Amino acid sequence: MDETMLDLARTAMAKAYAPYSNFQVGAVVKGANGKLYAGCNVENSAYPQGCCAETSAIAAMVADGETRIAEVAVIGPGAALVTPCGGCRQRIREFADDTTPIHICGAEGLRRTVTLGELLPLSFGPENLP
Ligand code: THU
Repeated sequence: MDETMLDLARTAMAKAYAPYSNFQVGAVVKGANGKLYAGCNVENSAYPQGCCAETSAIAAMVADGETRIAEVAVIGPGAALVTPCGGCRQRIREFADDTTPIHICGAEGLRRTVTLGELLPLSFGPENLP
Protein backbone atom coordinates (compact mmCIF):
# COMPACT_ATOMS: atom_id res chain seq x y z
CA MET A 1 0.00 0.00 0.00
CA ASP A 2 1.37 3.41 -0.88
CA GLU A 3 1.69 6.22 1.65
CA THR A 4 -0.80 8.42 -0.21
CA MET A 5 -3.50 5.87 0.44
CA LEU A 6 -2.66 5.77 4.16
CA ASP A 7 -2.54 9.59 4.39
CA LEU A 8 -5.96 9.92 2.73
CA ALA A 9 -7.42 7.27 5.03
CA ARG A 10 -6.03 9.08 8.09
CA THR A 11 -7.50 12.40 6.92
CA ALA A 12 -10.90 10.81 6.34
CA MET A 13 -10.78 9.10 9.74
CA ALA A 14 -10.22 12.48 11.42
CA LYS A 15 -13.38 13.78 9.74
CA ALA A 16 -15.58 10.81 10.67
CA TYR A 17 -18.88 11.71 12.32
CA ALA A 18 -19.04 9.20 15.15
CA PRO A 19 -20.48 10.95 18.23
CA TYR A 20 -22.33 7.82 19.41
CA SER A 21 -19.61 5.18 19.24
CA ASN A 22 -16.64 7.56 19.42
CA PHE A 23 -15.04 5.10 17.01
CA GLN A 24 -13.79 7.02 14.00
CA VAL A 25 -12.94 5.01 10.90
CA GLY A 26 -11.46 6.06 7.57
CA ALA A 27 -11.39 4.05 4.36
CA VAL A 28 -9.90 4.50 0.93
CA VAL A 29 -10.66 2.46 -2.15
CA LYS A 30 -8.39 2.53 -5.16
CA GLY A 31 -10.34 2.14 -8.38
CA ALA A 32 -9.10 0.16 -11.37
CA ASN A 33 -8.57 3.64 -12.87
CA GLY A 34 -5.86 4.28 -10.25
CA LYS A 35 -7.85 7.01 -8.50
CA LEU A 36 -8.29 7.04 -4.73
CA TYR A 37 -11.68 7.54 -3.08
CA ALA A 38 -11.92 8.27 0.64
CA GLY A 39 -14.80 7.80 3.03
CA CYS A 40 -15.52 7.91 6.74
CA ASN A 41 -18.20 6.51 9.00
CA VAL A 42 -21.22 8.78 9.36
CA GLU A 43 -23.38 7.88 12.33
CA ASN A 44 -26.96 8.96 13.00
CA SER A 45 -29.08 9.57 16.09
CA ALA A 46 -31.35 6.86 14.64
CA TYR A 47 -28.50 4.38 15.11
CA PRO A 48 -29.17 1.85 12.32
CA GLN A 49 -29.06 4.66 9.74
CA GLY A 50 -25.35 5.21 10.26
CA CYS A 51 -22.97 4.10 7.55
CA CYS A 52 -19.47 2.66 7.55
CA ALA A 53 -16.35 4.29 6.15
CA GLU A 54 -16.02 1.62 3.46
CA THR A 55 -19.59 2.25 2.30
CA SER A 56 -19.03 5.96 1.81
CA ALA A 57 -15.71 5.39 0.01
CA ILE A 58 -17.40 2.95 -2.38
CA ALA A 59 -20.21 5.44 -3.01
CA ALA A 60 -17.65 8.13 -3.93
CA MET A 61 -15.98 5.73 -6.37
CA VAL A 62 -19.23 4.76 -8.07
CA ALA A 63 -20.35 8.41 -8.26
CA ASP A 64 -17.12 9.10 -10.16
CA GLY A 65 -18.00 6.43 -12.72
CA GLU A 66 -15.63 3.65 -11.54
CA THR A 67 -17.02 0.22 -10.68
CA ARG A 68 -13.89 -1.90 -10.08
CA ILE A 69 -11.91 -1.87 -6.84
CA ALA A 70 -8.17 -2.61 -7.02
CA GLU A 71 -7.30 -2.17 -3.33
CA VAL A 72 -8.89 -1.08 -0.05
CA ALA A 73 -7.37 0.54 3.04
CA VAL A 74 -9.18 0.84 6.39
CA ILE A 75 -7.93 2.67 9.46
CA GLY A 76 -9.42 2.87 12.93
CA PRO A 77 -8.48 3.37 16.57
CA GLY A 78 -7.38 0.90 19.22
CA ALA A 79 -5.15 -2.15 19.32
CA ALA A 80 -7.49 -4.62 17.61
CA LEU A 81 -7.53 -4.96 13.82
CA VAL A 82 -10.29 -2.81 12.32
CA THR A 83 -11.47 -5.16 9.61
CA PRO A 84 -14.51 -4.37 7.45
CA CYS A 85 -17.82 -5.49 8.96
CA GLY A 86 -19.76 -8.29 7.30
CA GLY A 87 -21.99 -5.93 5.35
CA CYS A 88 -19.01 -3.98 4.01
CA ARG A 89 -17.23 -7.19 2.97
CA GLN A 90 -20.20 -7.90 0.73
CA ARG A 91 -20.31 -4.30 -0.53
CA ILE A 92 -16.63 -4.53 -1.45
CA ARG A 93 -17.28 -7.91 -3.10
CA GLU A 94 -19.68 -6.32 -5.57
CA PHE A 95 -16.77 -4.45 -7.16
CA ALA A 96 -13.79 -6.68 -6.31
CA ASP A 97 -12.68 -10.32 -6.33
CA ASP A 98 -11.05 -12.91 -4.04
CA THR A 99 -7.55 -11.57 -4.72
CA THR A 100 -8.28 -7.90 -3.93
CA PRO A 101 -5.94 -6.70 -1.14
CA ILE A 102 -7.48 -5.11 1.97
CA HIS A 103 -4.95 -3.14 4.02
CA ILE A 104 -5.81 -2.96 7.71
CA CYS A 105 -4.19 0.04 9.35
CA GLY A 106 -3.86 1.57 12.79
CA ALA A 107 -2.36 4.70 14.29
CA GLU A 108 1.18 3.53 13.54
CA GLY A 109 0.44 2.57 9.92
CA LEU A 110 -0.14 -0.69 8.04
CA ARG A 111 -0.83 -3.63 10.37
CA ARG A 112 -1.80 -6.41 8.02
CA THR A 113 -2.86 -7.00 4.44
CA VAL A 114 -5.44 -9.69 3.74
CA THR A 115 -7.40 -10.58 0.63
CA LEU A 116 -11.12 -10.22 0.21
CA GLY A 117 -11.23 -14.01 -0.29
CA GLU A 118 -9.83 -14.46 3.22
CA LEU A 119 -12.43 -12.11 4.71
CA LEU A 120 -15.35 -13.45 2.69
CA PRO A 121 -14.72 -17.00 1.49
CA LEU A 122 -17.05 -18.69 -1.00
CA SER A 123 -18.73 -15.36 -1.56
CA PHE A 124 -21.78 -14.61 -3.63
CA GLY A 125 -21.31 -11.93 -6.28
CA PRO A 126 -22.68 -10.56 -9.54
CA GLU A 127 -21.35 -13.61 -11.46
CA ASN A 128 -23.60 -15.87 -9.41
CA LEU A 129 -26.71 -14.34 -10.89
CA PRO A 130 -28.04 -15.87 -14.10
N1 THU B 1 -17.13 0.98 11.30
C1 THU B 1 -16.68 1.34 10.06
O1 THU B 1 -16.97 2.44 9.57
N2 THU B 1 -15.92 0.45 9.38
C2 THU B 1 -15.46 -0.73 9.89
O2 THU B 1 -14.70 -1.42 9.21
C3 THU B 1 -15.87 -1.15 11.24
C4 THU B 1 -16.87 -0.29 11.91
C5 THU B 1 -17.92 1.98 12.05
C6 THU B 1 -19.39 1.72 12.19
C7 THU B 1 -19.72 2.54 13.44
O3 THU B 1 -19.94 3.89 13.06
C8 THU B 1 -18.44 2.47 14.27
O4 THU B 1 -17.42 2.08 13.37
C9 THU B 1 -18.52 1.50 15.41
O5 THU B 1 -18.91 0.25 15.00
